[in-house]
Amino acid sequence: PLPASVKIIEVGPRDGLQNEPQTISAETKIELVNRLSQAGFANVEAASFVSPKWVPQMATSSEVMAGITRRPGTLYSALVPNMKGFEAALAAGVDEVVIFAAASEAFSQKNINCSIAESIARFRDVAQAAKQHNLRLRGALSCAFGCPYQGEVTADSVADVVRQLRELGCDEIDIADTIGVATPRHVQTVMQRAIEEFPIDRLSGHFHDTYGQALANIYASLEVGITIYHASVAGLGGCPYAKGATGNVATEDVLYMMQGLGIETGIDFDIVVDAGQFISEQLGRKAVSRAGNAIAAK
Ligand code: HMG
Ligand code: MG
Repeated sequence: PLPASVKIIEVGPRDGLQNEPQTISAETKIELVNRLSQAGFANVEAASFVSPKWVPQMATSSEVMAGITRRPGTLYSALVPNMKGFEAALAAGVDEVVIFAAASEAFSQKNINCSIAESIARFRDVAQAAKQHNLRLRGALSCAFGCPYQGEVTADSVADVVRQLRELGCDEIDIADTIGVATPRHVQTVMQRAIEEFPIDRLSGHFHDTYGQALANIYASLEVGITIYHASVAGLGGCPYAKGATGNVATEDVLYMMQGLGIETGIDFDIVVDAGQFISEQLGRKAVSRAGNAIAAK
């Protein structure tokens, strides 16, 4: 049987907006996060304390964190690549820091300018500091199903980095299809391998929809027993270091599928649809979400 309930992590304000070439004001980002909080997400990825030279759009992260209205019951997460990022995240009052490694050496170099081993060494300090300050620690694992620079990525290399992230003390680990190339059976093979290294109830699926496979991949992961999924409102996004990659699977589409499957999410669908229409208007384009657009057109 499929799980009775799942946790959806809304990553639109971070993964979704980080790649936007147009300047988005902190006010708009704050309003987006607030709307998502109201929808009832247990976790919103709201910020990223990375180098503004590398990802200019996230330069307003401190301002965004300071401006949002925090909903009790929602954790606000931020990406943190090193201690400099950690200090900023701590000062901004994030609830959860996300360290981000890759299953591919080539992607690690392009994305964070160091090898996988160097990144793990860097993350050790961040992990320790997070524990000291009682912050939750999440580990993202990019390119778990394929890499834009080196091509194939094996399930063993995923398992290898999952083990290292576990050793750093991650509370949760994200298996990410950065470039959206995975298909359902491949997803099941990699998830089964990851489960051997980390508790299944703390592993998540982070699927980009570049090849239109994300919902199928989520369903495949549900069959394996994965209960945490990342999604991006209005299907916002793309990764600045993965050319051509589209956004994460749209949150509205995931919610629609979960509703149909009778799987509890605890999220108010209508508020998410409105949030998706709001941010799409701000960006001056139509939302990518199919379900969101269908409901909004009614
Ligand atoms: P570097 O150039 O090797 O770092 O970048 P550095 O330590 O030599 O520092 C260079 C400059 O950056 C210095 O400034 C530092 O102070 C500054 P300068 O002296 O030149 O004026 N700096 C910082 N500033 C603010 N915050 C910081 C910070 N660190 C250094 N934290 C670094 C290394 C990791 C910093 C850089 O490569 C970087 O920021 N990369 C981030 C890339 C990124 O954000 N990618 C997108 C997120 S990952 C993703 O989307 C995938 C995911 O969604 C899952 C999936 O789909 O796969 C998570
Ligand atoms: Mg991503």
